[in-house]
Amino acid sequence: MKLLFVCLGNICRSPTAEAIFRKKLQEQQLSCHLDSAGTQGYHSGERSDSRSIRHASLKGYEMTHLARQVTANDIIEFDLILAMDRSNYENLLRMCPQENFKKKIFMVTTSSPHSEVPDPYYGSSEDFEKVISILEDCFPYWSEYIKKSARLANTGQN
Ligand code: 4NP
Repeated sequence: MKLLFVCLGNICRSPTAEAIFRKKLQEQQLSCHLDSAGTQGYHSGERSDSRSIRHASLKGYEMTHLARQVTANDIIEFDLILAMDRSNYENLLRMCPQENFKKKIFMVTTSSPHSEVPDPYYGSSEDFEKVISILEDCFPYWSEYIKKSARLANTGQN
């Protein structure tokens, strides 16, 4: 299964999500292709924000991603596209090349106690920590979703 995380700049939230999910999926021995991208290309080619890298590292997550902008082809290629906030979600729906691909796009906070992952870029250390704790809360739902999809694929129902 191929998962893409999407935020605005692809230097704070979505590469953090990628790093957290990579570590947790590995711990559960679930094999997925993970990537992240931004709806804007301002920071394309840059390493993640040093504040995100530092806070992630303190929690044991390694961030090595280089920023890139999301493309319509990503929406074709990836199985699951998880947006960090409502604005990213709506932008993804707008750039969707086919109506039936819209069903691959979700808020990462689906079924979690959170409505969005707030943008920490102009925020404090606490805002960067909050990004990590929200994303950790989001993980169990997606882990179950991935396991369920794998079971359906195995029984030929997908
Ligand atoms: P991200 O955060 O979408 O979580 O990567 C941001 C990074 C950069 C900017 C905004 C949000 N910016 O305006 O440059």
